[in-house]
Amino acid sequence: MFEISEKVIAITGAGSGIGLALTRLCLSKGARVAASDVNPESLGALNAGDQLMVSTLDVRDRAAVGRWAQDIAARFGACDVIVNNAGVSLSSRVQTMQREDFEWIMDINFWGVVNGVEAFLPLLEKSSAARIVNLSSLFGLMAVPSQAAYNASKFAVRGYSEAIRQDLRNSTVKVVTVHPGGVKTNIVRNGKHFDSLDGLETDMDTSAAMFAKIASTTPEQAAKIIMNGMCKGKPRVLIGRDAIFLDKLQRLLPAIYDRLTVPVSLRGSRRLARQ
Ligand SMILES: NC(=O)c1ccc[n+]([C@@H]2O[C@H](COP(=O)([O-])OP(=O)(O)OC[C@H]3O[C@@H](n4cnc5c(N)ncnc54)[C@H](O)[C@@H]3O)[C@@H](O)[C@H]2O)c1
Repeated sequence: MFEISEKVIAITGAGSGIGLALTRLCLSKGARVAASDVNPESLGALNAGDQLMVSTLDVRDRAAVGRWAQDIAARFGACDVIVNNAGVSLSSRVQTMQREDFEWIMDINFWGVVNGVEAFLPLLEKSSAARIVNLSSLFGLMAVPSQAAYNASKFAVRGYSEAIRQDLRNSTVKVVTVHPGGVKTNIVRNGKHFDSLDGLETDMDTSAAMFAKIASTTPEQAAKIIMNGMCKGKPRVLIGRDAIFLDKLQRLLPAIYDRLTVPVSLRGSRRLARQ
């Protein structure tokens, strides 16, 4: 039985977007929460108190993630859930992709998740009902142009999560992989954007404006769906009608889905750009 009000929940990337909304939702349900983010200013939106511990943490720093887990155990006596939510975005074509940018996104989106799992697993295994919640993406299910690095990081999170779920099958720890479609957050503003879907050069303002038009789910809606999947211990959580539809399409046409998605997305984004 997973009773949220009895749980201690650690959330990375909790200063903005989905992580912030999930932190607030978990607190409202009576959970004790350890919220962390690399950006200390973003954590100012949260008031630390009896129920909430707030820490500055870069998920790339393996030793620091380990210390954070120990600090949580010392403060709350246990930890039942790690939500590996921290993530960044990068839009860059393979022709011009800089290796430093590719490594930057893999270090945060993939190795950050591995750091979280490894640091928290010994604590989670002591819980009678624990969860590892890993944020992949719709782009962990299907690929699009200019997203090779982001796609690689999120496909990696998906493969890693689905494998460790099987390793942990006979334990008290359930692994939940989350695949959001477009959620209205700062993900673009916090990222690096050089190329658009049609392979043309772009800039941050254009990318952010386009994303704001396309993303249809609010962070609060996303948090509710994650909370439901976390409580039920669902292996796979899709967020948004876009994720549900496109997941079906790529499973139906795994080798040629891009022949449909790319032209439709391009027509849509050109229409949105004119509005
Ligand atoms: N917004 C979407 O449409 C969408 C879609 C699919 C997947 N996701 C995933 O959801 C997760 C949350 O993203 P979001 O949309 O809320 O974005 P966001 O930018 O609003 O929030 C991400 C948070 O992660 C933090 N962060 C960045 N690098 C970090 C690091 N090295 N260490 C610790 N924290 C770091 C940022 O400071 C920020 O507060 C990400 O993993 C993202 O890839 C988002």
